[in-house]
Amino acid sequence: MAMRLDLEKLNIFYGDFHAVQDVNLSVAPRSVTAFIGPSGCGKSTVLRTINRMHEEIPGAYTKGKILLDGVDINGKDVDPVAVRRTIGMVFQRPNPFPTMSIRENVVAGLRLQGVRSKSKLDEVCEKSLRGANLWDEVKDRLDKPGGGLSGGQQQRLCISRAIAVEPAVLLMDEPCSALDPISTLAVEDLISELKTDYTIVIVTHNMQQAARVSDQTAFFNLEATGKPGHLVEINPTEKIFSNPDLKETEDYIAGRFG
Ligand SMILES: Nc1ncnc2c1ncn2[C@@H]1O[C@H](COP(=O)(O)OP(=O)(O)O)[C@@H](O)[C@H]1O
Ligand SMILES: [Mg+2]
Repeated sequence: MAMRLDLEKLNIFYGDFHAVQDVNLSVAPRSVTAFIGPSGCGKSTVLRTINRMHEEIPGAYTKGKILLDGVDINGKDVDPVAVRRTIGMVFQRPNPFPTMSIRENVVAGLRLQGVRSKSKLDEVCEKSLRGANLWDEVKDRLDKPGGGLSGGQQQRLCISRAIAVEPAVLLMDEPCSALDPISTLAVEDLISELKTDYTIVIVTHNMQQAARVSDQTAFFNLEATGKPGHLVEINPTEKIFSNPDLKETEDYIAGRFG
């Protein structure tokens, strides 16, 4: 079910503002790609474009192509809602529906799709919570509100919710930035397990995290505020962190800017 993702000459705009320029990159199925780079270089913008959330912003548009197993997700006949179901997203701050029960949080997407069978919903609920390494911690309190969980548990709940609809690609925008170190490790372990089933793209500010969880790393940068962000280098993570092709990448990784 994991799918290949290709960005071809992707340019992203907010009205007159050219936010991201000429991104070309490929993500293999069942792999983790990390996006790194200074704040404002367009990492979140690229991620939102990949699941067609960008176009919800008034005046926002893109040029170029985003291919999912070779099919243009912006094609004329493609339904954006179907794209968002195939390409799931986890955000920086865990955003469960706070008063909704843990169980209902997990199956919210299935309910929207019209699934009514209680046994089916229960089955997906357990499978998704197990998939997000959360089942053992919550199995006795499935009817309690999602908002009552710790931050780390809430983020794993959001990951359960995202995988419950069986997406092909999982996008994560700094999923650990609001978490403590122990929860961060739990989510990182989970990412390593999820890549056996999903294609994963994760934005992270944490270089160690990129080095720990990803197979390839894409370094984005921008020349100055107001200039578009662009992809500087994409390579296997080990190479980016030991012997990058470009001095610009090396300087960023060494903490010399950003
Ligand atoms: N909704 C928006 N409207 C206009 N400009 C935006 C919007 N969101 C982000 N931007 C701009 O796009 C650029 C890239 O932002 P962003 O993708 O958030 O960068 P990053 O995630 O790398 O920090 C920034 O200049 C930012 O100000
Ligand atoms: Mg961002």
